[in-house]
Amino acid sequence: MAAHDHPLFAAVYDPATALAEATVFAPHRRYLTNDLEGRVLDLGAGTGATVPYFVAARDAARRRGGDLDVHLLDPDSHMRARARDAARDAGLDATVVGGRGESLPYPDDHFDAVVSALVGCTIPDLDAALDEVARVLRPGGQFRFLEHVAADGALGRVQSLVDPAWTRLAAGCHLDRDLEATYRGHDGLDVRTVERHRGVPPAAPLVRGVAIARA
Ligand SMILES: C[S@@+](CC[C@H](N)C(=O)[O-])C[C@H]1O[C@@H](n2cnc3c(N)ncnc32)[C@H](O)[C@@H]1O
Repeated sequence: MAAHDHPLFAAVYDPATALAEATVFAPHRRYLTNDLEGRVLDLGAGTGATVPYFVAARDAARRRGGDLDVHLLDPDSHMRARARDAARDAGLDATVVGGRGESLPYPDDHFDAVVSALVGCTIPDLDAALDEVARVLRPGGQFRFLEHVAADGALGRVQSLVDPAWTRLAAGCHLDRDLEATYRGHDGLDVRTVERHRGVPPAAPLVRGVAIARA
């Protein structure tokens, strides 16, 4: 089994997140996919939780005379198998790709948008992955993100305390990353919007936003 394969995590992911999907994440996934058109990469697509929202975006793009070409990338073969099933069941003709954010198997300027949903917490070398995101986006292309980030105060202290155990249970996910600062600090991306929202403790708060790839 490859180091990034987590069969148990992949198997429990959808049931474990079903309530949060319905009550917290749904509007954020609509935000991530709203008005998308052209070629889009779902970075760390997991089980394909964003797939139904890509379908809605594709249908809207087609009504406008355009289209949406979706690539679902994940290093975990168990996640990819589920994402493939999700796309098939939803009638989305997506390309499912094995790969890591740190070395994306695509040429420069290939995508109109890259979407990251709850992935920045897990990617081991996030700076390398952001370099790659900036590289594969066309100039002016959008990096849309939804991430849980380190909290202030008491919750932040709890996150620091439980992070080592949480990381082992949740396949490499970290509770204590300041992803807004990381994204704002990246040279290749110009963060235009960031909003804070409630999350699902201990994975809270959420930030969502859009960055533009610099030329
Ligand atoms: C918490 S899950 C989120 C999945 C999905 N985006 C969602 O919104 O439900 C994190 C995902 O990141 C993937 N991942 C782990 N390391 C990665 C890397 N280096 N590059 C890209 N994805 C990675 C994991 O396999 C997992 O599917």
